[in-house]
Amino acid sequence: MIFKEIVEFIEDLFGECEKPIPLHSPIFCGNEKKYINECIDSTFVSSTGEFVDRFEEMVASFTGAGYAVSTVNGTAALHMALMLAGVKSGDNVLTQAVTFVATTNAITYCGAHPVFLDSDRDTLGLSPEALEAFLAEYCEKRDDGFTYDREMGRRITACVAMHVFGHPVRIEEIKSVCERYNIALVEDAAESLGSFFKGRHTGTFGNLGILSFNGNKTITTGGGGMLLTNDAELAKKAKHLTTTAKVSHPWELSHDSIGYNYRLPNINAALGCAQMEMLPLFLEKKRELSIRYKKFFESLGVPFVSEPVECRSNYWLNAIILDGVRERNEFLEYVNNNGVIVTRPLWTLMNKLPMYAGCKTDGLENARWLEERIVNIPSGVIM
Ligand SMILES: Cc1ncc(COP(=O)(O)O)c(C=O)c1O
Repeated sequence: MIFKEIVEFIEDLFGECEKPIPLHSPIFCGNEKKYINECIDSTFVSSTGEFVDRFEEMVASFTGAGYAVSTVNGTAALHMALMLAGVKSGDNVLTQAVTFVATTNAITYCGAHPVFLDSDRDTLGLSPEALEAFLAEYCEKRDDGFTYDREMGRRITACVAMHVFGHPVRIEEIKSVCERYNIALVEDAAESLGSFFKGRHTGTFGNLGILSFNGNKTITTGGGGMLLTNDAELAKKAKHLTTTAKVSHPWELSHDSIGYNYRLPNINAALGCAQMEMLPLFLEKKRELSIRYKKFFESLGVPFVSEPVECRSNYWLNAIILDGVRERNEFLEYVNNNGVIVTRPLWTLMNKLPMYAGCKTDGLENARWLEERIVNIPSGVIM
């Protein structure tokens, strides 16, 4: 029986691992304890300290982003990115229905309305054709240079493209559509640290991009995020607004706008520095795992989600595509009862969540197809 074979193969791959074998757990085998102890010894565990600067420099250097500004988590980074992209209350923001809820929540934090568009079946992320088709059919560029939803009159300020499970979306084409319609592009690269599109790191194509360092990601700071941009002015604003908009002064305590306490504590950044040192090895190990999975699933005739052409994916979460919702449910049920590995289906499409049920969508044909078939399997680093 194919389900049994899959479970046995994964159990074999992960060897002595705890049971059930998790989807993705963190690994601490470098300088984590050393740096955290340094942090404690210095007493700089909170809002300032040298690890924050070091961590930001390491991420900027690895990704090639002009600037990296750390935040308390990826959701806060997304909220800040959307505000800096000019998203205002009452605007529309275009995004994909296939995403984690944080993408959509961040749009709502700005008082804006999400619009859910279709995905490509190979990248799993936002389809540039769906984006173009939606804009051509339902929107218009007006004399002020901005694009508006024709029916509702709302300005379309930004588009958020998300690199699903670390597989890069067709970001160049998405960027070119956004530029034509004068729409800011924000990349939700929460899952794609170490993923590249034509040699350039995901999260560095848009006006702004974000990363997450939540415990289930490729590297972790416990909780944490990072804002990426090549725009010096935006980076300066991001640093200011994420650190309560405090005016720099030797003794006065003053703030010049409504800021946010979104900064990453130094103790989390210390963990991040140690994890960044391990990142190349983690990526190598994750690639080895994906190659073994690909070979195995090909031998079974089960489609395995591989990196798109001209892309290098971090394979954050490996995914297989089952025959349909019936086979998917049977597999999830078998695996849950069996208790050896952890698996999960794709997120419920955003437009099906009760708080987003009234939002505008296109046909979401591919999104629905993917929702019925995708299953994630254990993807953590095997040392
Ligand atoms: C696509 C996506 N966006 C945003 C986030 C939010 O990041 P965080 O959990 O660090 O707030 C996550 C994951 O956690 C994510 O997977």
